[in-house]
Amino acid sequence: MTAKLTALRQRPADLVGDRLPKHVAVIMDGNGRWAKQRGMPRIMGHRRGVDTLKTLLRCCDDWGVGALTAYAFSTENWGRPDDEVDFLMMLFERVLRQELKELMAENVRIRFVGNLQALPVSLQREIERAMLDTQENQGIQFTVATNYGGRQEIIQACRAIGEQIQQGEITPDQIDESMFERHLYTQGLEDPDLLIRTSGEMRISNFLLWQLAYAEMYITDTLWPDFNHHEFHQALLDYQQRHRRFGKL
Ligand code: FPP
Repeated sequence: MTAKLTALRQRPADLVGDRLPKHVAVIMDGNGRWAKQRGMPRIMGHRRGVDTLKTLLRCCDDWGVGALTAYAFSTENWGRPDDEVDFLMMLFERVLRQELKELMAENVRIRFVGNLQALPVSLQREIERAMLDTQENQGIQFTVATNYGGRQEIIQACRAIGEQIQQGEITPDQIDESMFERHLYTQGLEDPDLLIRTSGEMRISNFLLWQLAYAEMYITDTLWPDFNHHEFHQALLDYQQRHRRFGKL
């Protein structure tokens, strides 16, 4: 490894290990605008967006952030033109196929959350394979929200619990937060401590509605393809200054 690469892989000295978020969630926004600014088709922005995501995953892993969750495709994104949707599905599939070896080598555990049954069958197959192959990995937990909607996730949890009540397996007073969380797509994953959104929009956009209840938010005007390790460093420095009170004094 070159000296420059080694330096990049070390956690910057001004980031304090025990003040780092354990779990970072990210809304990767601005791919289309990035491409448009350069006179390119929107899909080029998504392509570059994959590189950014890889960089971020590597930084998290190298700097000691144990989990990363990325919003890759929302339930609302089906409303985009067919050719863009088709491209994104093809891109997810291709990236998974190409990167699986590397994910294994880096000990990454990958998981997809969302209504996965509605995705193209060939993509579902790659997803299943990647989740199965990496499920015993002990490194960073990488979660990709695909065909994901926070409201839909909450509704499917309610339905599952409703069925258990109907079957007489539980009573309504047994429903509490930890029980409810076990019915979410993200069961077993700790809530994100930090949500990063690129391209300046001040919205959650139906992402992890339950899980982000106490997350700190960091919003940058930078478009997703331009978000790099310097920007991530800034976001973490900002996070370190926050006083998290969880509603207490
Ligand atoms: C939002 O930008 C971005 C998306 C809807 C797609 C993000 C997907 C990737 C970066 C690929 C990730 C790949 C894997 C395998 C996880 P936008 O199109 O809404 O940008 P705009 O707001 O400028 O139009």
